[in-house]
Amino acid sequence: MMIDIRDLRVRFGQGADAVTAVDGVTLSVREGESFGLVGESGSGKSTVLRAVSGLNDEWTGRIAVAGTEQGPKRPKGFYKLCQMVFQDPYGSLHPRHTVDRILAEPIAIHGLGDADARIVRVLRDVGLGPAFRFRYPHQLSGGQRQRVAIARALVLEPRVLLLDEPTSALDVSVQAEILNLLRRLRAEHGLTLVLVTHNLAVVANLCDRLAVMNRGRLVEEMTVEELRQGAAREPYTLQLLRASRGYDRATAESFRDYA
Ligand SMILES: Nc1ncnc2c1ncn2[C@@H]1O[C@H](COP(=O)(O)OP(=O)(O)O)[C@@H](O)[C@H]1O
Ligand SMILES: [Mg+2]
Repeated sequence: MMIDIRDLRVRFGQGADAVTAVDGVTLSVREGESFGLVGESGSGKSTVLRAVSGLNDEWTGRIAVAGTEQGPKRPKGFYKLCQMVFQDPYGSLHPRHTVDRILAEPIAIHGLGDADARIVRVLRDVGLGPAFRFRYPHQLSGGQRQRVAIARALVLEPRVLLLDEPTSALDVSVQAEILNLLRRLRAEHGLTLVLVTHNLAVVANLCDRLAVMNRGRLVEEMTVEELRQGAAREPYTLQLLRASRGYDRATAESFRDYA
């Protein structure tokens, strides 16, 4: 197993204000697999990903990545194994740094040589020519910015990419380009992907298997093939399925809370 999560729990706040964001999640992802974590906004998807990535150290349970048990704080070497990509390519890139500097930083932090060759190679890998190297984020389109964010994650040659709504901030046509890019990168680099999204169509496009979260718990787990064949059983998943086929008023009005 590349990722093994047992009984993960994450609480925020104290006393009466406490929120149990993740309430006993157990799941595993095989090496080379592409796994989707879906659910409505607020269901705890990002919190699971942030705990795995080491961004949140307030959790209980067990998290193992590539066979190594992880504590709350991650050693530097962890980030050569496992990298995260965020939803918002505007917010996640430093506005006053060129693409070159954004990509050079992780190379320097990890003391890797050959920065020049690595930067050129990773830009080519994400479909950006050398002309993009000395641009600033504001000189790029949303899709190009997300390519840079993916390049920054890939520059350390990790085995695992954690993607939090990687296409949700993008126009539909650009979403498809980024999904195609991720599919190609996965095949070329043998990456293990964990993709968080509220959109089942994105999961159907990129993933082999998925788990559905509702209010901090996993309510259903299935293969994408089973999803396509209509094997979803949980009313919550069926609702999500209708919602991700696009907005229509009758669907929206039929929504209810599944506790
Ligand atoms: N840093 C935080 N402090 C307090 N509550 C948080 C924090 N992060 C997330 N939450 C709460 O935890 C729950 C799950 O959030 P999140 O994991 O972001 O959901 P999702 O990614 O599925 O939209 C929500 O109720 C959210 O408000
Ligand atoms: Mg989220």
